[in-house]
Order: sequence, then structure tokens, then C-alpha cells
Amino acid sequence: MSDPYYHEWADLYDANTRGVPGDVEFYVDLARQADGLVVELGAGTGRIAVPCAESGARVLGIDLEPAMLAIARRKAAEAGVTSRLELVEGDMRSFEVPEPAALVTIPFRSFLHNLTTDDQLATLEACHRALQPGGRLALNVFNPDLALMARWMGKGSDHWEPFGAWQGAAPGEGFQAHQEYVPSAQISTTQVRVRDGAGKWRKTSIRLRYVHRFEMEHLLARAGFQVEVLHGGFTAPHSARDRRRWSGSRADPEVLGARGASRGSGSYL
Ligand SMILES: C[S@@+](CC[C@H](N)C(=O)[O-])C[C@H]1O[C@@H](n2cnc3c(N)ncnc32)[C@H](O)[C@@H]1O
Repeated sequence: MSDPYYHEWADLYDANTRGVPGDVEFYVDLARQADGLVVELGAGTGRIAVPCAESGARVLGIDLEPAMLAIARRKAAEAGVTSRLELVEGDMRSFEVPEPAALVTIPFRSFLHNLTTDDQLATLEACHRALQPGGRLALNVFNPDLALMARWMGKGSDHWEPFGAWQGAAPGEGFQAHQEYVPSAQISTTQVRVRDGAGKWRKTSIRLRYVHRFEMEHLLARAGFQVEVLHGGFTAPHSARDRRRWSGSRADPEVLGARGASRGSGSYL
């Protein structure tokens, strides 16, 4: 299931990834509050796992892609957090934990790598099994932007735009993307390209199955979670007090963040 992007372009990931504004701080804050093991699924190059370990949390980072994990291990060593951050190869659909976790996270839309309903449910059920009573799951997925999708559907296959950290770059500079959306399957395919040192295009691709807000809530419910907090973004003034508040405004076009508590916990369900 791992996309070629993570296998072939792991060396380019950090240079091209800004994340979602405020996401590192959000997950670090949750990790700090967690009373026990923190598990990050799709930990990648440690963009979030390393700062969480630096904040004092004990973190287990799981990822399907060895090339991404190799970079995370180097960054963990440089940050001096190898005693608090374990990085292992594993699949979010079937992972197991050495002890019940206080917090499981799936940052930066990694959940969307589950391309079928069976995979989505397998992942959420594995999260549920991994959590201690009262433990939390926190994840973010993008809020499908119908205007953006419609815009891409009107473009030809030779249309490319700046991608990732390169948005706003001069035309022809840096990474470029071509996107295709198939609404009936809720699959987006992003072709990515960048010129190599010899000026030739280096190409790869990412496929995601996007989810809508209420679909995500149904999936969480089927796996035994109830939504504790639903955020519309990381930087908007949403907090744990804004229970079940939803912002789908254009000011927060990108992110649907949800976190759920496992059934039987003391949290409000
Ligand atoms: C968008 S990156 C996120 C990396 C990191 N969490 C971050 O915020 O920068 C998605 C990661 O999920 C991993 N991944 C994809 N499918 C996976 C699966 N089934 N199980 C575990 N990891 C997976 C990829 O290898 C990649 O490292």
C-alpha cells in the first residue's frame, strides 16, 4: 500500500513538506498530556515523532516504509531522543503495541493511505485494540474542497502546478503536481515531478482515498470510538472546550481534525 513517493523520494520528503500550520504543536501538546505510551502511525521521517519525544513523551513510531524510517532514526539520534523514541516498520492496519497506549496519532492525513473501507476499518480497529481504557486517538485528514477538485477536473493531463512547500514558487521551479479526482471512488491521484541535476523530470505519485466529515465519524463509530472533539484546523481558536464544534469555513479549508476516546473511558463520549 505504501506509495512510490515514500519509497523513491524519501530523501526529498523533508525539503518538500511543510505540514499543516500548527500540526506539530498540536500533536506535541497531546503527547505531553498523555499519561503513557504515545504511538504515531505513519511516523515517516519523524517530523512530528521527534518533537513529541523531545517534549518528554515516550513514543513508538510505526511506518511501512524503511527509507522514511531510516531518516527518522538519524533525526532521533541527532536530537538525542533515541531512548524515548522507538521506530519500527509496521502497517497501521495490523500493528501491535508492547503495552496499551495512552495516545495513538495518525497525523498529516496518513489515514487517507487506506484506500478501501476494509483498510480504513482495520486501521481504526487496530487503534482501538492498542489503546488503554480512556486512551485517545487523534488524527487529521483534509476537508475535501469541492471547488479545488472541480478546478482540477477541468484541466488537461499536461497541467502542472507547484506542489507542497513549492506553492508560490516561480513557474517551472521546484516540485510540481498534477491531480486527478475520481469522486465515485473518492480517490485522488497526485502525480509529482521535479527536475533532476541533469534537467530530466523525476516523477512519482501518491494515491489517497479522501473522506468526508460524517463518513469519518461513522468509521470511528464502527471501530468503537465516539468523537470527543472535532476541530476545523490547528490554528483556529478551537479547543477541547469547543466540543463537537465544526468549522468548514474557507478560513480553514484544509483540515478536519478529530480525536476520539475509546469506549469505557472516563472522557465524555
Ligand atoms: C504524509 S506521510 C506522514 C509522515 C509524518 N507523520 C509527517 O507528519 O510528516 C505518510 C506516511 O505514512 C506511511 N504509510 C503509508 N501507508 C502506511 C501503512 N499502511 N502503515 C504504516 N505507515 C504507512 C508512509 O510510508 C509515510 O511515511
